[in-house]
Amino acid sequence: MDTTRLGGSELEVSVLCLGCMNFGTRVDEAASLRLLDQYYEAGGRFLDTANNYAFWNTGTRGGESEAVLARWLAARGRRDDVVLATKVGARPTVAGGDFSSAEGLGAKAITEGLDGSLDRLGVEHVDLLYAHIDDRDAPLEETLEALDGLVRAGKVRQIGASNYEADRLSRAWQISVDNGWAAYRCLQQRHSYLRPNADADFGVQRIVDDELLRMATERDDFTLLAYSPLLGGAYSDPAKSFQPEYQRPGIDAQLAALSEVAADIGITVNQTVISWMLSGPASIIPVIAASRPEQLAENLEAADRRLGADALRRLNQARG
Ligand SMILES: NC(=O)c1ccc[n+]([C@@H]2O[C@H](COP(=O)([O-])OP(=O)(O)OC[C@H]3O[C@@H](n4cnc5c(N)ncnc54)[C@H](OP(=O)(O)O)[C@@H]3O)[C@@H](O)[C@H]2O)c1
Repeated sequence: MDTTRLGGSELEVSVLCLGCMNFGTRVDEAASLRLLDQYYEAGGRFLDTANNYAFWNTGTRGGESEAVLARWLAARGRRDDVVLATKVGARPTVAGGDFSSAEGLGAKAITEGLDGSLDRLGVEHVDLLYAHIDDRDAPLEETLEALDGLVRAGKVRQIGASNYEADRLSRAWQISVDNGWAAYRCLQQRHSYLRPNADADFGVQRIVDDELLRMATERDDFTLLAYSPLLGGAYSDPAKSFQPEYQRPGIDAQLAALSEVAADIGITVNQTVISWMLSGPASIIPVIAASRPEQLAENLEAADRRLGADALRRLNQARG
């Protein structure tokens, strides 16, 4: 699988990142280990988790995904072969809590959050640490100074943001420059081919908007990570439907464009969505996920595929 430099940094990451959110909870451990092997055998080397995955499932606390990754890394002896990303800031502080009781992005929460992740992952450092959801109660200065301290301590190589609006990201960059601190190299955000309504409310989640796409096109020190790229499988699984936020005027024409382009090229609709993201001009790494090997195989096949100018024009025109 091809690699790219994350946000122009020294970190060489696979063009498809494997989302491990459901490993150890919705996807049992044996199936998770097989999917990790399958991704690795396809050349994938970029793993995404978080310290709160996946606390919202019945009988879980968060941290199950990191624990499964720890056992895979140890069993296969692969710590140094992969780029390992985790996130802090969105883990509930009380048993049975939700995002409203999240630990947040104060200095103490960040430092203790990362130490918890390092313990669960069984590693000395992570390659990429994300601030998981923007915390407007914590001064950005405090958040960034704490993250910079972890980089200086050798516990983290690069930092990224997730679920930030464009103006907050720009402000964070300015603060890092002004203080000589590590700066966010990437932003992980909800993104797919279908656009949600302008007033869509995804709770703590934030979408990739046109401003962020512009930033990821023009800046060579910034990469977007696209989560939920396949909208839970709704593009291809007749038993699933798109969330109401995506049911907007124009959806039929957009889905028709996707199907037509996919048929013309001879690939699936899911592969078309992933390849569309990989084909620029913005620098985007899809965070793919799967619960079954055949899904992962389909998604991985898109890694080497770039769409031609005609296909891109048709898709972008329909998307608006
Ligand atoms: N930063 C954040 O706030 C944030 C938020 C959400 C996710 N993420 C990250 O992004 C990753 C991906 O998120 P996501 O799970 O929401 O992604 P997604 O692409 O929207 O959904 C993945 C699901 O789609 C179905 N699927 C995948 N490939 C398929 C295929 N080829 N054919 C049919 N169905 C297919 C599977 O559903 P079934 O399992 O039902 O079969 C799979 O579990 C997560 O693992 C996590 O690492 C980050």
